[in-house]
Amino acid sequence: MSEAKNTIYGNTDDCIERVLVSAEQIDEITTRIAAEIDATYKDSENRLLLLCILKGSVVFMGDLMKKIKTPVEIDFMKVSSYHSGTVSSGKVNIMLDIHRKDLSELDIVIVEDIIDSGRTLSYLVNYLKLNGAASVRCCTLLDKPERRDSELKDFKADFVGCVIPDEFVIGYGLDYDEQFRALPYVGILKPSVYEK
Ligand code: IMP
Ligand code: MG
Repeated sequence: MSEAKNTIYGNTDDCIERVLVSAEQIDEITTRIAAEIDATYKDSENRLLLLCILKGSVVFMGDLMKKIKTPVEIDFMKVSSYHSGTVSSGKVNIMLDIHRKDLSELDIVIVEDIIDSGRTLSYLVNYLKLNGAASVRCCTLLDKPERRDSELKDFKADFVGCVIPDEFVIGYGLDYDEQFRALPYVGILKPSVYEK
């Protein structure tokens, strides 16, 4: 673990069970995925758009985009599938839409922090295709396949950083109740923090 910060839950180190993906591992992941994205789009005639899903993906997206050699544009959407805490609400709401008229000229890579039930990403893929995107692929830092909704069992991202067990994780953009996003690694949150 590293810099202990204070959150509304107290000292960060006391809230974290263990580091799951270190800053060094994240750096290797972003390097690998950037190369995969470059290889995938090398012959495309469309422009490449990285679509960051706020807020959790902002740190990952910032690091990833710097390592992609293909010229990229960026945009943002904000969706919510969580009410609060660690339990999914089950439906996806668009809080900030992508307002562009050029979707048919764009290869879109949706950049997510984590896939859990799969509802957010599967909804967004359909939404962007329905709105005419030239192509849509998904990139996620973390994947928790054990948590996938039964009807989305086959849903997979095209670019995956790391498959993780069914644990609630925070850091590197991911939050619990808006806390812990600025940590440079991904850690497992102690259940005692959210069971309080
Ligand atoms: P899904 O729609 O159930 O796949 O949920 C995806 C969203 O839930 C992610 O973009 C996160 O914002 C949030 N989420 C899921 N699991 C975790 C976690 O372990 N920590 C923090 N946020 C999570
Ligand atoms: Mg998210």
